[in-house]
Amino acid sequence: MDRFTYKNGSLHCEEVNLEDLAVEYGTPTYVYSRDTLATHLADLTAAFADLDPLVCYAVKTCSNLHLLHELGAGGAGADVVSGGELHRALTAGIPAERIVFAGVGKSREELEEAVAHNIGYVNVESESELELLADVVRQAGRTQRVAIRVNPDVQGHGTPEKTTTGTRGSKFGVDLERVADVFARAAQLPQLRLAGLHVHLGSPIYSPEPYVRALTRVLELEARLRAAGHPIEVINMGGGFAADYETGLAPGWKEYAAAIVPVLRPFVAAGGRVIMEPGRSIAANAGVLLTRVRYLKSAGPRTVAIVDAGMNNLIRAALYDAFHFMWPVRPAGGLVPPNRTEDLRLEDSQEYDVAGPICESSDYLARARSLPRLGEGDLLAVFGAGAYGMAMASQYNSSLRPAEVLVEGDGSRLIRRRDTYHDLVAAELDLPGGKF
Ligand code: LLP
Repeated sequence: MDRFTYKNGSLHCEEVNLEDLAVEYGTPTYVYSRDTLATHLADLTAAFADLDPLVCYAVKTCSNLHLLHELGAGGAGADVVSGGELHRALTAGIPAERIVFAGVGKSREELEEAVAHNIGYVNVESESELELLADVVRQAGRTQRVAIRVNPDVQGHGTPEKTTTGTRGSKFGVDLERVADVFARAAQLPQLRLAGLHVHLGSPIYSPEPYVRALTRVLELEARLRAAGHPIEVINMGGGFAADYETGLAPGWKEYAAAIVPVLRPFVAAGGRVIMEPGRSIAANAGVLLTRVRYLKSAGPRTVAIVDAGMNNLIRAALYDAFHFMWPVRPAGGLVPPNRTEDLRLEDSQEYDVAGPICESSDYLARARSLPRLGEGDLLAVFGAGAYGMAMASQYNSSLRPAEVLVEGDGSRLIRRRDTYHDLVAAELDLPGGKF
């Protein structure tokens, strides 16, 4: 599946030794495998081939233009949630008709931009947004395809509360029972072509079952709307497929598809179109974060490895207690991981807290993690970092955001340079008497 493998005792991305990349580009650095990204998109699309879906990659997951460009070239559209993401998707060359736009708080300007480009679907999340969009479209003298994001009141499986979106009372979407009224209202707004239903339950969802429940509700709604004279052209089932952070825990795309395809097949057979918005399952294991051990220290009973990447670079452990497998790029004693499990216990290993340099006590990448014995200067690879890694990186502590490198075969190229001190202050206005 993914193309990060140990060869001659050292971790490689495709054919490139990560030790060489760390020397060339410094650390911390995100490294992505082009082949993994492309293969994930192709495998996912193949698993759902019976539905012939439009796969709109969730740009928020990892939004570097080069990755978007690669995915776009592979046939993907884009799921965007801001004017900025729309700008990225268009800049990367993704055709506007393959772009869908969700988000509970779109501004008038963002809606204007979406309409000006005549994107595929605006996924409207409230009655007020529908009215604003109608006004924008009228002013622009255009028409626009619209979907309503429905809140189906379904809890994801294994989905953290912080990333659950489809349960009652959440800020996302329109309650199921109000959707028919929204369609009735939209019928009086001829500039809107309201013909889509959108759901997104949350992320990640470790079972196909919540999708089946939610889509069953959506299809019941679709039948009711059709009977009321509102035919539905598109069902967008959102994102949320899990990534394999720990070997074996996440269902594969085929497993999701085996349950979901039969539910949606009749809709497609009747001429309907399916859209999906995966992010994590495509990008997570297409990227690692390379970081170097700066110091080893004792802290009471614990051994702490202070590394050069912290919550400023990869916030998921600090924010969600997320598990990211990590392993030395060249492990002592050639100790290559048998698989990625949290409770890995190996003979020549030691337990470490792996902490970043940020002045914040939540700044850990891992706690009580069993790793081959580390030395100062050792390189670590943090796996599963391609999704919600760089996309959530900040300049907290006035730190420099990492570089990003794309590997293709035996070659690599820088696709985002590391921040500079100039970047840190570039948007700030001149001091009285001159800036610097
Ligand atoms: N569609 C919509 C409308 C979404 O809000 C999201 C993710 C996706 C698709 C993509 O979901 P995926 O396939 O990647 O699971 N920062 C959190 C995840 C937040 C997800 C937000 N929405 C994390 O690091 O786990």
